[in-house]
This record gives sequence, structure tokens and C-alpha cells, in this order.
Amino acid sequence: MTIETAILIETLKDLGADVRWASCNIFSTQDEAAAAIAKTKTPVFAWKGETLEEYWDCTLQALTFKDNLGPNLIVDDGGDATLLIHKGYELEKYYYKNKKLPKITTKIEEEIVIEKLLRTVHKKNPNHWHSITPNIIGVSEETTTGVARLEKMVEDATLLFPAFNVNDAATKSKFDNLYGCRESLADGIKRSTEIMLAGKTVVVCGYGDVGKGSAQSMKSYGCKVIVTEIDPICALQAAMEGFEVRRLEDVLNRGNIFVTTTGNKDIITLKHMKKMKDQAIVCNIGHFDNEIQIDALNKSNAKRDKIKPQLDRYTFKNGKQIFILAEGRLVNLGCATGHASFVMSTSFSNQVLAQVFLAQNKPAAGIYDLPRKLDEEVARIHLKHLDADLTKLTKQQAKYIGVSINGPFKKDEYRY
Ligand code: NAI
Repeated sequence: MTIETAILIETLKDLGADVRWASCNIFSTQDEAAAAIAKTKTPVFAWKGETLEEYWDCTLQALTFKDNLGPNLIVDDGGDATLLIHKGYELEKYYYKNKKLPKITTKIEEEIVIEKLLRTVHKKNPNHWHSITPNIIGVSEETTTGVARLEKMVEDATLLFPAFNVNDAATKSKFDNLYGCRESLADGIKRSTEIMLAGKTVVVCGYGDVGKGSAQSMKSYGCKVIVTEIDPICALQAAMEGFEVRRLEDVLNRGNIFVTTTGNKDIITLKHMKKMKDQAIVCNIGHFDNEIQIDALNKSNAKRDKIKPQLDRYTFKNGKQIFILAEGRLVNLGCATGHASFVMSTSFSNQVLAQVFLAQNKPAAGIYDLPRKLDEEVARIHLKHLDADLTKLTKQQAKYIGVSINGPFKKDEYRY
């Protein structure tokens, strides 16, 4: 719930939607934006610094319309709304079959919170999720991690409704993930630590779209950037951009700042943190906090001092200290206000087109992509703002390269 999502809410309302909203992260709400939307009588369940219980309860509230009805359309970022519905549905299915609810076996704090919440819903109405899912036309998913979750559901044949992959529109992931993070990573680090970046050694874990933007950003400030990667293609890209490519365990004593950008888990472990240089700064810009083992750090014998909200200092037994930003949650949203509006406009243009596509076409369950022509249209409408003049193909040129004069200009496989 940021100022940019406030504009997205207003746009969806202008298109005729009845909107309810929650944040996709406990630290990412801009309270002033939430308050402004609440003033227009659109229900908003979000504030900066929610507990996990509050966060999941807010998600449930956003999904519960009057008379216990569910939504027809969902805008998701990271897939938590989609996950809650699917987990609730699964729990009900288990109950129908076994006439009892399964024991909570997970040891992960957030999963326990979700399981408990779903049991409370079940107690009130054992058919809640089964009754709302038939009315769900679909979801449009914003980010890489959310799309990965959807793909897993398709693989497991559990996806209950159609999903629109907004992330992989070129005008989303090649702009928001890259240029957005190129500016908002530094914003998050600087607002929280006020550190001078020039001359520091920064280790960027992952060199996908977010990693590329993050590494470029730190380089532009005069940092020495080291990249870690598991994918040889991305590692080669990083090397050919002039970045040093190393394994994390080999550079723990060199980095002043560590940034995870992988969408994967356990990238920086407790063992890694113990071996870091004194006063190292550790943060994550990937969607979930499990990229850094914060739970293990909190359970370790390191002493935690809260310097200010979203900035913690941990002192290990040997006196060495490290700083953790936003408790390992996305640093650009936790410690700053996320990407700038212009790049969010390209992302949310895709979200709006996805919502209109779902509402108009009501496709079958599955994952859908934005047609390349609409992707090009999103770029086209943003060019004017940057005072850019687009060259027009001649008929002969179009014929020569085998495209239509008005696009699409590239094949679907083109990578940009
Ligand atoms: P991506 O898939 O393009 O890049 C991730 C990279 O990490 C890949 O190249 C992969 O090979 C690498 N990787 C995976 N495991 C690794 C490991 N153990 N060590 C080193 N590298 C590893 O994904 P993208 O689009 O860059 O997104 C990354 C994360 O950032 C996702 O969680 C996404 O949802 C999130 N995101 C966050 C944004 C923000 O504003 N904070 C904006 C956009 C995306």
C-alpha cells in the first residue's frame, strides 16, 4: 500500500471495481497513502510495521467483502492472497475427507500464523473458501516470486483460477525489477544507515533483473561490486560487465555491504553472518525475508540492539557486529518507499491491462501473458514523458525485417 498503489486503486475504481486493499509486506505500507485511500471510503487494511498475525488478518479482511463474499479479481504481489485462498481451500478439502483438521506440524513462525488463522475461519464457516472460489475470475501477479509460486501450482495441478503473469511483461520485469531497484536499493540503504557508499565493497547475491539493477546502482556510487550467481549465463553477464564473480563464502571478509536479490532461500546463513567483517551491513531486496537466515540469527546468542525502526545491530560473542536492514525484508520498501512512481506506472499499466483482460475474457485456469503488442503499447505511452521520439518503420523496412509497420516488433521469445 504505497502512493503508487493508491493511484492503481483509483484507476480500478474508475473502471468500476469495488476495491479492498492490503499490503504485501509488513513494512511496506506508506501510512499517508493508506489514510488517503481510507478517506475515500475504500477499505484499506494496512499500516507500516504490522505483526505477522496482523498482516495475515489484513490479507483475510481484504479478501472478505460484505456478506462474506470473496473477490472476483485479485491483484497480488508475491502471491500471499492467492496462497491464503489455496491453503484455506486445501484445509476444507482435508476436513471433508477426514472429518477432522490436520495437526499443525510446521515449525516456521509465519506458516503457524497462517494455519491458525485458517482454523479460525474454518470454525466460523467450514465452507468459506469453497464458497468464494467459484466467483474468482482470476488473479494478476506482480512479481517473480509470485509467478514462481503460480508455476508450482500449475505443476502440482492445484491452481484454482486463471492467473495473469504481469512480471514477465517486458515493460514490467525489464524496467521495475531493473531500473526500479537501481534507484530504490540505494534509497533504502542510505535512508536507514546514512552510509557513504563510495569506496565500499558490496556483494550482490544473484544477477537476474533485480541483481543487475542493484549491481549497476552500487557501481555508479563508486562501490567495488562482487556478484555471486548459480547460473553460468548470468555469471558470465556479470563478469563481462566488469564485476568480480565469486562464491559468497570466499568474500565474507571483504564485503562492507551484502545484498540478496535471488528470490531463493538461505542465501546468507547464520554461519555466513558470523564470518562477516565487523560492521557489515546485510540486506535483502528479493520478495521474501527467507533469503537471509534472520530466524536463526534471532535465536543465536548474538545480542540485538534496535538502533531505529528497520535498523538492527547484532553483536556476536566475539564482539563483532553486523547491521540488518528491515529485518531481512525488502529493503527498498522497508527502509524507503519502494520504486519511484514513473517505473511503477509501467508496472501498473500492465496490472490494469491484466485485470481488464481477465474480466473481459474469463479464461480457464492457467497462466497467461500479456500480448507483445500491449507490452509495446505500455512502453509507447511512457515515451512522451521522457521526451523520446520513436522512429517509424517504412513499409519497405517492415517487409524486409518481417514485422507489421505498427508492431509487434519482436518475436515472443525475444529477451530484451
Ligand atoms: P531473476 O530470476 O531474474 O533473478 C534471480 C537470480 O538469482 C537468478 O539469476 C538466479 O540464477 C540467481 N540465484 C538463485 N539462487 C541463487 C544462489 N543460491 N546464489 C546466487 N544466485 C542465485 O529474478 P528477479 O526478477 O531478479 O527477482 C528477484 C527477487 O526480487 C524476486 O523475489 C522478486 O519477486 C523480487 N523483486 C523485488 C523487487 C523490489 O522492489 N524489492 C522488484 C522486483 C522483484
